[in-house]
Amino acid sequence: MTLRLGPAEVARAAALLRAGELVAFPTETVYGLGADARNGRAVAAVFEAKGRPHFNPLICHFAEANAAFAEALPDERARLLAARFWPGPLTMVLPRRAECRIDLLAGAGLDTIAVRVPAHPLALALIRAADMPVAGPSANRSGQVSPTTAEHVLDGLSGRIAAVLDGGPCAVGVESTVLDLAAGGAALLRPGGVPVEEIEALIGPVARPIPLAAAERTRSLRSPGMMLSHYAPSLPVRLDAESVAPEEALLAFGRPLPGAGALWQMSETRDLREAATRLFAGLRWLDAEGARLGLVRIAVMQVPMDGLGAAINDRLARAAAPR
Ligand code: TXA
Ligand code: MG
Repeated sequence: MTLRLGPAEVARAAALLRAGELVAFPTETVYGLGADARNGRAVAAVFEAKGRPHFNPLICHFAEANAAFAEALPDERARLLAARFWPGPLTMVLPRRAECRIDLLAGAGLDTIAVRVPAHPLALALIRAADMPVAGPSANRSGQVSPTTAEHVLDGLSGRIAAVLDGGPCAVGVESTVLDLAAGGAALLRPGGVPVEEIEALIGPVARPIPLAAAERTRSLRSPGMMLSHYAPSLPVRLDAESVAPEEALLAFGRPLPGAGALWQMSETRDLREAATRLFAGLRWLDAEGARLGLVRIAVMQVPMDGLGAAINDRLARAAAPR
């Protein structure tokens, strides 16, 4: 069911991406699980195919720096790094531009977006032919190691994606370095293909991640909602609502409970993929609408745990965690 496409079939792979299908593609680091980053349903399908229990923000791939910087806002440091390391294994986390076309789910609802220009001729050809930002986590099932050949991709994802574009083994084999420049400082979020020393040579000191053990200790002390710097609504969130009051805003799934002061429907037909695409937008909208109308809380109808439901519930639990 999953097509294996050769280097001569880039146009076919691009057509699949444009149709909202998932296409794994080679980069210099590892194979990516590509989807149209502007298309919420395609992005939701990525999480579904990976079997991710929660929504990690995805890296968006571009064929050139200018295209990346049309969606994310670079500062002087980002421009310097792009000129030096792109195409290449560096991912920069930058503020989303107001006009950013990347679907909110691809960014897991954050105000930032991770962008990179991969150094692989097939990846660049595919992105150019598809003419879109391509969202791409590593093309493995959640919890498994990143794939560096088309066989690895098929081992994990055969039947779950439309195609894999086979470019042979990846040259780097470890993922890109992820550098956060969005908050003013510079912080290393993930060591990777570009050594952090080479980054520091260009832009000065970069904060290193807290060692895992210490991070775990910190994590257990803080509320789950603080574990990730995900967007959290300013209104309190109440889960598993079975009724709703007029002073509450309702995030609905299926037939809406009557009587809410404001309503956002995730999926009338209880389609989890549709709900995933409308979750972050809904939290933002209800938060704004709730503030405008003087509502006190966002009530959320129960969402089942199967398929994408696990990720949706994970995100809702974070939004509802005490702050
Ligand atoms: O080499 C790579 O980076 C590969 C190839 C396919 O490009 N991609 C990859 O993607 O490793 P993924 O999804 O497996 O890892 C993306 C990492 C995650 O650790 C994620 O949390 C982080 O980047 N990330 C993405 N967007 C972010 C954001 N807006 N803020 C903070 N971290 C972000
Ligand atoms: Mg990964």
